[in-house]
Amino acid sequence: MNDDSSRNSEVYPPFKIELASRLHRLPPYLFGRINALLYKKRRAGDDVIDLGMGNPSDPPHEMVIEKLVEAARDPANHGYSQSVGILNLRREVASKYLKKYGVRLDPESEIVVCLGSKEGFSHLCLAVMGPGDTAIVPAPTFPVHAHAVNLASGNVIALEVANSEKFLSNVAYACEHLYPKPKLLIINYPHNPSCVTVEPEFFVDVVKIARRYGLMVISDAAYNDVAFDGYHPPSFLAAPGAIDVGVEFTTMSKGYNMAGWRVGFCCGNPELVRALGTIKAYYDYGMFQAIQVAAIVALRHTEANVEAQAAIYQGRRDVLCDGLRRLGWDITTPRAGMFLWAKIPEYWQKQMDTLSFAMKLLEEGDVAVSPGSGFGPAGEGYLRMALVENESRLRQAVRHIDRCLGHDNRNDAKLGAGAPIPG
Ligand SMILES: Cc1ncc(COP(=O)(O)O)c(C=O)c1O
Repeated sequence: MNDDSSRNSEVYPPFKIELASRLHRLPPYLFGRINALLYKKRRAGDDVIDLGMGNPSDPPHEMVIEKLVEAARDPANHGYSQSVGILNLRREVASKYLKKYGVRLDPESEIVVCLGSKEGFSHLCLAVMGPGDTAIVPAPTFPVHAHAVNLASGNVIALEVANSEKFLSNVAYACEHLYPKPKLLIINYPHNPSCVTVEPEFFVDVVKIARRYGLMVISDAAYNDVAFDGYHPPSFLAAPGAIDVGVEFTTMSKGYNMAGWRVGFCCGNPELVRALGTIKAYYDYGMFQAIQVAAIVALRHTEANVEAQAAIYQGRRDVLCDGLRRLGWDITTPRAGMFLWAKIPEYWQKQMDTLSFAMKLLEEGDVAVSPGSGFGPAGEGYLRMALVENESRLRQAVRHIDRCLGHDNRNDAKLGAGAPIPG
């Protein structure tokens, strides 16, 4: 007899667990092999430089942590909160939108607080997508953009994001030629993983297309707080008429270094905001109130810290771009976001696929990166490197990559093993 009575398989025949078919719609997790090797190496004591995930390594502002501690000591903050977030936090989000983008939002009907923007985004997809519905997503694709639609039983079309004009003309083409017409357009600028950015006029055109074809829009602006060289990522909601056709998600994970706190916002079209609120009312009881109170303080008082954090990412970006360029890599300098979207040198593209190349860097160079193919076929040939380690660790990462690849770093396929590295 099994001494664990919860496992009495000798008494009954094996029980079959039947999962819902929507789970089988999810592809194998491409980052799984990288993560398993990273874990194994760390357990063996290897000092791996982890540029895999966009997980900020710097802490939130001290004032925000102190407020969290103080709010956690208040017995009034320990019950269930409101599933759409407390009104004062929604008001603070409204004043940030007004200050930063000149956009006026009604905190009562046009803002919902989410348990991280990923939660809000996924549940909004559940609210608007169903069998037979199609969403357009950017390619390469941040996995949740496709799989939240997928889990809601919708279909996904991924359109190349690299050239913004071409992207929009492809969106219009898809709306003209597909039947049934796509229902939802998911956009994400600054884009993860490709780092593509846009100017405000782009969103004006998005609204025009959305109106013409009856296409709802979700803008994921997760990286709007992290921009460089004086660039200010625009808000989709600042485009005339945007609020009639869609919503925008923002987050405190990136600019405020509060990724683990799970604080995000959905703002814009009141019907979509209400739909998300309805789903959330069934699924959750709202965010821990002490976190909401501290988030108010962060939004109200730490904007200078957000800018300082962006300057830190800019410094890291420069170190990594310069270092890889010195190795001969063909690098486009991003002007926003937390990543470098680096083209793998042709020499190596000819030798192996992107996942194998990323595994090689980890196995032999102790540098973890995300293989571009983890973001769909459009990411093949690229690596995504997160700027989450400090400058000296990034310099070390470049040295490790150089050592690991020997003299075959360069994009020039004519340069083979043994050629000298240019100074
Ligand atoms: C494009 C994009 N959207 C959303 C998220 C998730 O943000 P949050 O922490 O608010 O769920 C991320 C996080 O990596 C992201 O890259």
